[in-house]
Amino acid sequence: MDEISLSAGTAAKAAAGLTDGFGRAITYLRLSVTDRCNLRCSYCMRTDVKFLPKADILTLEEMERLGAAFIRFGVRKIRLTGGEPLVRPGVMLLVERLGARVASGELDELTLTTNGTLLAKYATGLASAGIGRVNVSLDTLDDEVFRRLTRRDGIADVLNGIEAARSAGLAVRINAVAMAGVNEAEYDRLIRWCGEQGCDLALIELMPFGERTEGLYLPLDPVRERLATRWTLTPAKHKSGGPCRYWRIAETGRLIGFITPMSHGFCSSCNRVRITCTGKLVPCMARQGDYDLRAALRSPEGDQALEAAIFAAVGCKPEGHQFNEGYKPQQGQPMWRMGG
Ligand code: 5AD
Ligand code: SF4
Repeated sequence: MDEISLSAGTAAKAAAGLTDGFGRAITYLRLSVTDRCNLRCSYCMRTDVKFLPKADILTLEEMERLGAAFIRFGVRKIRLTGGEPLVRPGVMLLVERLGARVASGELDELTLTTNGTLLAKYATGLASAGIGRVNVSLDTLDDEVFRRLTRRDGIADVLNGIEAARSAGLAVRINAVAMAGVNEAEYDRLIRWCGEQGCDLALIELMPFGERTEGLYLPLDPVRERLATRWTLTPAKHKSGGPCRYWRIAETGRLIGFITPMSHGFCSSCNRVRITCTGKLVPCMARQGDYDLRAALRSPEGDQALEAAIFAAVGCKPEGHQFNEGYKPQQGQPMWRMGG
């Protein structure tokens, strides 16, 4: 679809880009390509999770159309998420199509958040399709803790996947959700290991979304202060387009980032929206409310209906989250459907 197909009103809006009701420009899209996953992280999914019927899930072509519409409206970065994006059959087709938008300069970056279990198989393909870096979720290096947390074996696959990604030339950031009493004692080991692997590390505050998160929240400011007594940390200017704040670790040369949705709000600079694998636009992950784009995608009016639906949904992005105002974990979309 090209610009000519836009209505005059939408074309004018497209030129101005997507801006929400609080003046925040939306330049970052997180697109969940599947709700399925081959792990069952206890803070994310129940063991008896019921996945959505396939017919409810957008086709890869529909996802490409969505990506293209957001790109026309000024989105510069797209992250593919899941569930686990690499379990979606044919996902490379989408990666290649959106990757071509990086090559053409329409996108600054196409990236991926993965649990790493299938990375060994896909790393080379991802790199040649135009992905420059991936985030790999890995909360622990300990076999037993990994098995308990994810309820699956598979740490060996993840470690192989990370190695394959590095060999394929992909930059890797390890995402570790910080959990009191679970992986709290492992951060020095993770820092050292990331140094050896040539990976950056981000510690993430646990949000009250999934299952079994009670009592595990660990605020990251004290963690950083403790790490700073062992490692030489210098604030880094590096920005990855999200809320992560980075420090350079002199001893390893790598970055460590802290993502602190709970202890420090970053809503005022929020530049993103999420889309679930069923085509629901989630303007804010911590607020109830999502906006269906699938009906518009499948409507005979084609891209005009889609573009109008996107503008309407982005216009409803709330000012901020409400984790501390009696937020109930099961409101809204589960994490594994909206992609973290
Ligand atoms: N709190 C914080 N991070 C979470 N993730 C999944 N569930 C939660 C939660 N409740 C993380 C995953 C992954 C990213 C997509 O989101 O570990 O790194
Ligand atoms: Fe799968 Fe990621 Fe959820 Fe773990 S956190 S079960 S890897 S979607």
